[in-house]
Amino acid sequence: MNEMRIGADELAGGKAGVWRPETWRTKPIVQVPDYPDKQLLAAVEEDLRTWPPLAIADEARKLETALARVSERRAFLLQGGDCAESFSEHSANNIRDFFKVFLSMAVVLHYSAGLPVVKVGRIAGQFAKPRSSNVEKRGDVELPAYRGDIINGFDFTPESRIPDPARMRMVYRQSAATLNLLRGFATGGYAKLERVNRWMLDFLADSPVAEQYQEVAERISEALEFMASCGLTAENTPQLNGVHFYTSHEALLLPYEEALTREDSVEGGFYDTAAHMLWIGDRTRQPDHAHVEFMRGIGNPIGLKCGPSLTPDGLLELIDILNPENRPGRLTLIARFGSDKIGKHLAPLIRAVEREGRAVIWSCDPMHGNTITSGSGHKTRPFGRILEEVRAFFDIHRQEGTYAGGVHLEMTGKNVTECTGGAVAIQEADLASQYDTLCDPRLNARQSLELAFLIAAELRKDRANRPSVLPVAAE
Ligand code: PEP
Ligand code: CO
Repeated sequence: MNEMRIGADELAGGKAGVWRPETWRTKPIVQVPDYPDKQLLAAVEEDLRTWPPLAIADEARKLETALARVSERRAFLLQGGDCAESFSEHSANNIRDFFKVFLSMAVVLHYSAGLPVVKVGRIAGQFAKPRSSNVEKRGDVELPAYRGDIINGFDFTPESRIPDPARMRMVYRQSAATLNLLRGFATGGYAKLERVNRWMLDFLADSPVAEQYQEVAERISEALEFMASCGLTAENTPQLNGVHFYTSHEALLLPYEEALTREDSVEGGFYDTAAHMLWIGDRTRQPDHAHVEFMRGIGNPIGLKCGPSLTPDGLLELIDILNPENRPGRLTLIARFGSDKIGKHLAPLIRAVEREGRAVIWSCDPMHGNTITSGSGHKTRPFGRILEEVRAFFDIHRQEGTYAGGVHLEMTGKNVTECTGGAVAIQEADLASQYDTLCDPRLNARQSLELAFLIAAELRKDRANRPSVLPVAAE
């Protein structure tokens, strides 16, 4: 770890208050690897520094504007995707299926709740994983933990678990290819609203949410026919022709993030061009550590995971560092307490933020506080607990008079059996049948859509308390 730090004296930016993309190197850091091959690390960083940006600063600013509308209660944030992307699962079908499910969820929320949805995928860069243990034990063998494909390999062998800097090059290339396909889907006609009927059909054939989805799709088709009869069609109305889709990941592996951080030649300021939005994980949010230092200086919208150990004062200290100008849309607080803890922890944080008049977006991650190990040894999440945490999140915001502005989910377009429960109930005994995740259990396509309907119902309850969206263009 120390090898990645350089002394404050060597670094002009190391003085308090001055920020540069590399000032994080003067701070303590956790959850990043100690690379044995420093020379290769330096060479990879040098390559990445010269390679083209993936996300563009202007797009990141557009996302901040869209998120500012969330903070005004005029839009809802849907953020979701894999826990960890992998080299082995990089297929066009996977990306397409994820995108289909994600769009279907967004359309359910948009239509049922009457709110535009800001769409942010956990994709095209979500490769680095913080771990609660540095080692993994299988039988008598103990090896370093798997930390995501950007750092080491999943295979349980000593060689595969050695941190390899060259993996960053692979991640860059895979992210570029994924982003390219997503951009094509988002703007090339695939995401046309008139196709809403087709996105989900194959997934839903025999599932109870199929009927619900069909009904929404039919009502949207009717609305589109009505609009077409008024002269508004996909040909002359760009909003019907595609969507804005943004990317995000946890900014964990700072050598990678730093190397892709560029000064914007148009408007100035530094942007991490590895994604549109980055977030700080629950294990790396120490105010005087490297991850917070890095994130405070980038212009992108950022997220902060808020788990049970975060106190109201601790949160205010972090907000001061991360959003000193109190810019709406800059900071999303992602609450991840667990269904049994949210009742105790969320309200005091909300009250502190309200008391100090801080502009934040509150988003609910109902995944990371609800992970258990099944009898068969699989990490899983009971769907009932996920729903419970989401409902509690909305209830608490209702009581506090604040806005439940978004959700943050681990989900996939594949028909996996990783979370138990749901309308087509997955039992513990079913988990092994399609358990594909390399890290945390994800919602499958049906569970994701079922959850979207539940969130839409919660949002509908509060419809009367929101400003009208009519004067604002849909995002
Ligand atoms: C994650 O989002 O994959 C994650 C590790 O979350 P957290 O930092 O909230 O535990
Ligand atoms: Co996860």
